[in-house]
Amino acid sequence: MPRVIVVEDSPTQAQHLGFILEEAGFEVVLAPDAETGFRRLNEEHFDVILSDLHLPGDSGFDLCRRLKADPVHRNIPIVVCTSEVDPVNVLRGLQAGADGFVTKQRPPAEILGCVRRVLQRGCAPEPSPSARTRVTFLDQDFELTAGREQLLDILVSAFEDVVHINAQYRQSAVALREANRKLEQRNLELQRSVESERRAHEERKRAESHLIQNEKMTSLGQLAAGVAHEINNPLAFVINNITLLRRDLGYLEAMLSLYREAIAPLAVGRPELVEPIEEYAEKVDLPYTLENLGRLLERTAEGAKRIRHIVASLRDFARLDEQELKEADLNTGIASTLDLARGRASELQVALETVLGPLPMVTCYPARINQVVLSLVTNALDACKPGGRVIIGTCVKEDGVEIAVTDTGTGIPPDVLGKIFDPFFTTKSQGKGTGLGLSISYGIVRSHGGTIAVESTSPGGTRIVVDLPIRPSPTAAP
Ligand SMILES: Nc1ncnc2c1ncn2[C@@H]1O[C@H](COP(=O)(O)OP(=O)(O)OP(=O)(O)O)[C@@H](O)[C@H]1O
Ligand SMILES: [Mg+2]
Repeated sequence: MPRVIVVEDSPTQAQHLGFILEEAGFEVVLAPDAETGFRRLNEEHFDVILSDLHLPGDSGFDLCRRLKADPVHRNIPIVVCTSEVDPVNVLRGLQAGADGFVTKQRPPAEILGCVRRVLQRGCAPEPSPSARTRVTFLDQDFELTAGREQLLDILVSAFEDVVHINAQYRQSAVALREANRKLEQRNLELQRSVESERRAHEERKRAESHLIQNEKMTSLGQLAAGVAHEINNPLAFVINNITLLRRDLGYLEAMLSLYREAIAPLAVGRPELVEPIEEYAEKVDLPYTLENLGRLLERTAEGAKRIRHIVASLRDFARLDEQELKEADLNTGIASTLDLARGRASELQVALETVLGPLPMVTCYPARINQVVLSLVTNALDACKPGGRVIIGTCVKEDGVEIAVTDTGTGIPPDVLGKIFDPFFTTKSQGKGTGLGLSISYGIVRSHGGTIAVESTSPGGTRIVVDLPIRPSPTAAP
């Protein structure tokens, strides 16, 4: 049974190599370093040595040199084990007198093959100094003592290494490709799930805004109904009474002029009666009071009429009675909607102008369209500084009608532009904006089969254009 000494400092690797050799019928002795190895060589006989290159203390090459310099042991063949294939190490090993090389990662059969070949061939006879071969590799000179057979063996071994590495490389390339494929697939799945998560989120936000829109409309409708009911009755008295007051004032004026005619004869007979009347008339500036009374009545009548108009606009805006598609005159709806915004416009000192072109009747949910117009106009007013202008225009387009709201306000910065239709997106301070106006408007316009687009106007300012078909598609819903 051939005896082998394995010089290896790593216990795991020593055990691994020992196991391979024992399985193949070798008697194995382990030594953790070169010093121990050499001591064991002096104590007992070994047929072959398998030594690691990197060892604590003397390296595998030192062991080779020491072995080949020793006349007793120089004929024991020695195989150097390395972790990586490095031609410089091979040449250094040959120079040191190694008889064979093998890399640790090689399959057991190849490690065994290498040990057996070296064992069979034995050591090269000690070469004469003239038989030394000089080799230059990567600018380093090496002087080799190895014989032809030994060199061929190392060549074959190196070739086996290359084949092995190549096979490993191919396997890793296949594994890499597979891992890459899986990664790409996973990436795709991830992208899909992110996309569907994003859509679900958008959908949730839209559903939420739809709900809020309905609630807003319902409460606005109830408010409008309440206001209309509560204001209309007393307003009717006020308007009626103004008419009566006007009539009665006429009576009183007529009466007063009759009195005045009677005053001249009375002044002759009873001046003490006339004097305080004249004094009082002068004190209250009777001609002015009488004239002003008429004016006051006129202005009160105008105010009352305006209140009646606003209440009507409010009802018109909410169009509570119209929950179905119907033909509507958009310009009328816009005019009544603008009445609701006029107060805010004058408060902000922004001019509200209209350029309403003749329009055909449009089939729509009128209250919803009014809501869109109010939303766009409110935004435009909010964006303007005092002295600014908001222009609401309508015109006929090729396949429908257009409503455009243009302002001379701050404009919309490019990084905000992509978000303004997102539900709950607002740049307004808390309590001032919910960020729902445009997203609800977008939903309403889309439900009519129309489009809503935003453009920047120069210098600064914004133009929002709503295009509506004359008749929405049959799927349109409120
Ligand atoms: N005409 C405009 N000029 C400048 N910015 C605008 C204009 N219209 C909309 N925006 C921007 O778009 C944002 C979103 O508008 P949106 O009407 O949806 O919400 P909001 O006005 O902030 O709040 P809400 O309408 O719910 O009271 C606004 O906060 C504002 O930044
Ligand atoms: Mg708004």
